[in-house]
Amino acid sequence: KYEDRIKELIARMTQEEKVGQLQQCGPSLVGAFEVSFEELLDMMFDGRISQEEFGRLMSTAEEDFHDEDLKAGNIGSYNGIKNAKTANRLQEIAVKETRLGIPLIFGYDVIHGYKTIMPIPLAEACAWEPELWEKTARVAAKEATAAGVHMTFAPMVDVAKDARWGRVSEGAGEDTFLTSKFGEAKVKGFQGNDLSKEDSMAACVKHFAAYGAAEAGRDYNRVDLSMQKLHEEYLPPFEACVKAGARGIMPAFNDINGVPCSVNKWLLTDLLRDTWGFDGMTVSDANAIAECVNHGIAEDKEEASQKAIIAGMEMDMSSNSYIENLKDLVESGQVEEAILDKAVADVLRVKFELGLFENPYQTSEEREQEELLKPEYRSLARETAGKSMVLLKNEGILPLKRGIKVGIVGDLADNRGEMTGAWAIGADGNTCVSIVDACKGQNVAYTYTAGHTEKQVDPLELLKATDGCDVLIAAIGEVKDQSGEAASRADITIPEYQKEILEALLTTGKPVVAVLFNGRPLAMPWVAENIPAILEAWHPGIEAGNAILDILFGDVNPSGKLTTTFPYATGQCPIYYAAINTGRPGGKGKFTSKYLDTPLAPVYPFGYGLSYTTFAYSNLTVVEKEEGFAASVEVENTGDRDGDEIVQCYVRDLVARRARPVKQLKAFEKVFIKAGEKKTVTFEVPYRELGYYDMNMEYIVEEGIFEIFVGKNSAECLKDMIEL
Ligand code: IFM
Repeated sequence: KYEDRIKELIARMTQEEKVGQLQQCGPSLVGAFEVSFEELLDMMFDGRISQEEFGRLMSTAEEDFHDEDLKAGNIGSYNGIKNAKTANRLQEIAVKETRLGIPLIFGYDVIHGYKTIMPIPLAEACAWEPELWEKTARVAAKEATAAGVHMTFAPMVDVAKDARWGRVSEGAGEDTFLTSKFGEAKVKGFQGNDLSKEDSMAACVKHFAAYGAAEAGRDYNRVDLSMQKLHEEYLPPFEACVKAGARGIMPAFNDINGVPCSVNKWLLTDLLRDTWGFDGMTVSDANAIAECVNHGIAEDKEEASQKAIIAGMEMDMSSNSYIENLKDLVESGQVEEAILDKAVADVLRVKFELGLFENPYQTSEEREQEELLKPEYRSLARETAGKSMVLLKNEGILPLKRGIKVGIVGDLADNRGEMTGAWAIGADGNTCVSIVDACKGQNVAYTYTAGHTEKQVDPLELLKATDGCDVLIAAIGEVKDQSGEAASRADITIPEYQKEILEALLTTGKPVVAVLFNGRPLAMPWVAENIPAILEAWHPGIEAGNAILDILFGDVNPSGKLTTTFPYATGQCPIYYAAINTGRPGGKGKFTSKYLDTPLAPVYPFGYGLSYTTFAYSNLTVVEKEEGFAASVEVENTGDRDGDEIVQCYVRDLVARRARPVKQLKAFEKVFIKAGEKKTVTFEVPYRELGYYDMNMEYIVEEGIFEIFVGKNSAECLKDMIEL
């Protein structure tokens, strides 16, 4: 549609202007402060500044946006501008004062909401509800575009099987199929049905690829994995997002088998462009092109630039590698001009599609004012948080009766800012509702104590503070900076002082409920064994406290199910349900695959979650269809409350040329079933979903016997077989 205009524009551009289109400014160029992006990140990661402060510094330094560079056509994009006034001022310079008047594209990390912060993605995935995932992304797009954002660096579709990796919080969990559905829904929600509309923003899917496979779960670490694993487990969500129309792709920081993604031509061109047909733009991760020097793949930024642009790395996020080197590289013939032109064309195409040439000012301060934090957005955040929480254990304690007095313990219960979770840089923590806020708002009788000073627990003080309460609620887990980027942990247990709090509470003999706040699975077998009721709340977002009380008091019947396995011990990581059998499957006997000091099975398996009602599964029937198979099961609500049940369908290819996982999710459905009612759920799975990559990386679908499992979680299923 825009190809003639793109060609015509490129023909009029100087080399400098072309390179300018590939320049995305980070704070080192944007801000009125003398600190590089790398230093700023370091400051955030070592705790000198908080994530909010990082976000603020990235976006509020209004004085110096390098206007002269902008006027000269040296800047094609900014990252981190988050208000309409600044966006429009800069856009006006781009449109009116540059030689060719090419509009800017503004990028921003809108990961799980812009101002109305939804639960972290790992939590939201536990709702298993694609329509909801799309709706929350739509809200994020409406808010962010009102503040001037055109492109979000989301969704993150990195399959994450290692709970030590802090960024598990930003994705949908360990499963490839579920992550693909999550990514598709997010792309649709962010982009809407017409990218040129003012409330649509381009999705820049990240981190391409296999970032979640970082060795030992340590962020940014090397990734060394088989091509089969890459194709089968890590790439499909990206392909699904490309098919859903995503307009941006962010290559990952890591290398894959020794080649950093930023300079990986096979990944960025052969696969992404030539095989998948992607014609949007690629945007580097922050400083990633320059970091190829640290990877040891380039001598300096010049060589890194050459390798990156040739590979298909188009927009340079805040490393200044291209602006410093690309013109010379083209003029000296080290990079063909056609390669530069192609990169520029891809960036311009997205700008055209966003409607920026026709309508460069897509927002106004009035629209911004009206659009943020609308009551209906907050309601959606509350609904989403409720659907994201997972009831892990309930020995007859929940739901609580209204009118009782609760004793709340733990500083996470009274800390609004902690409710957002990681990567919520647009958030204002003060807009969040903590558990204590919600008790006040809902007239729940309560006492509150943090339960410790400097992690020193005083059991007597704790007991005094909870005296006279009917039920004790302990808020434990992680603060938000314990997950997210650069927040890997070598020990994912709860801290000793939190255990001491729980122990002290148990001595009262009163019912104790643990509410967990965390951005990753935790290894907490002691809690699982000793605490009679456990609600996994994750980092639930802006309506945290209200959504938690909705569940604790039974206004909402919990329905969330885990999309990530909860191990017994950190040493089990990575642990995931879709494992490949060994020749000596774990179990009894010395010479089997197992641990001496911890069980083989996890504490809570993938797909697990309880409800205030119960569901019974029966009559699984599997029949062959022309295009695959259909599996039907009857699900009966055998309790006395209406409820949603997430029904899951898994497959195992029993004998193949390459060992196949013992179970792989192939379909799921959330069904509402009234108390006492029975519903039939039917899944149709096409043959093509049953294949795998052979030794030559050919996708093949073989005939043979398949086990079909349908059930409430990956460990509790009915089973049948079919020969296909
Ligand atoms: O989008 C992020 C990415 O996930 C991590 N590095 C910084 C980018 C831009 O802020």
